[in-house]
Amino acid sequence: MRILVCKNYDEMSKKAAQMILSQVTLKPDSILGLATGSTPIGMYKNLIDMYKNRIIDFSEVKTFNLDEYYKLPVDNDQSYHYFMDDNLFNHININRENINIPNGMAENIEEECIRYDEKIKKSNGIDIQVLGIGRNAHIGFNEPTVNFEKRTYVVELQESTRMANSRFFNSLDEVPKKAITMGTGSIFESKKIMLLASGKEKAKAIYDTIHGKITPEVPASILQLHNDVVVILDEEAASLLDTKEYKSL
Ligand code: F6R
Repeated sequence: MRILVCKNYDEMSKKAAQMILSQVTLKPDSILGLATGSTPIGMYKNLIDMYKNRIIDFSEVKTFNLDEYYKLPVDNDQSYHYFMDDNLFNHININRENINIPNGMAENIEEECIRYDEKIKKSNGIDIQVLGIGRNAHIGFNEPTVNFEKRTYVVELQESTRMANSRFFNSLDEVPKKAITMGTGSIFESKKIMLLASGKEKAKAIYDTIHGKITPEVPASILQLHNDVVVILDEEAASLLDTKEYKSL
């Protein structure tokens, strides 16, 4: 794992956007794995600016999102479909047909899980997967549990995750109890992985991810086994790491 520590959220976001720029410049038809949540919003803003300044072209890019709430209509402003349109897709020249987000409204959700994994495989796999991390070290919506899930599946969200995400809803009751998510196995198959974290409340999850035992109780710990992972942090998220372990930017 390469660990880069940036001064603050803005610097982290810039660095992350630069990595995506390099990827898309070198391979214009890149397959990007994307995340939602607060963490990548700054990166998306930087990418939109780069697009407006004609530095990056998304016309051949394909995307696969990690997850979506179960049975939350796509036009609900808390759905991840809505989030992605609002924070990225509506502002860049991506071809709508190249956008993939799990369909939490699918009538046959098991079939949807299989369809999603097959589509990733057919596209030749994800070139770079962007990840945020939960306070409980979840990636995608892979919550701490007793085994690593390989494939896209429907997961029951932990109360702590629902509480953390309730900041976007009117009340905790409105936060869905389930989600559809790429499994840790599907995430792990990505050629490159870029994990982003900012803020003190992520410091313990980051420490455990990098130094802890590899266990499904700390879902992100599986990344220790991947051969191309870059972790981009701000100083607060890195606050439990030894400064000798990382490169400061
Ligand atoms: C979002 C996702 C989640 C978030 C994580 C952190 O697609 O898969 O794993 O990355 O919950 O969320 P924020 O960035 O809001 O702290």
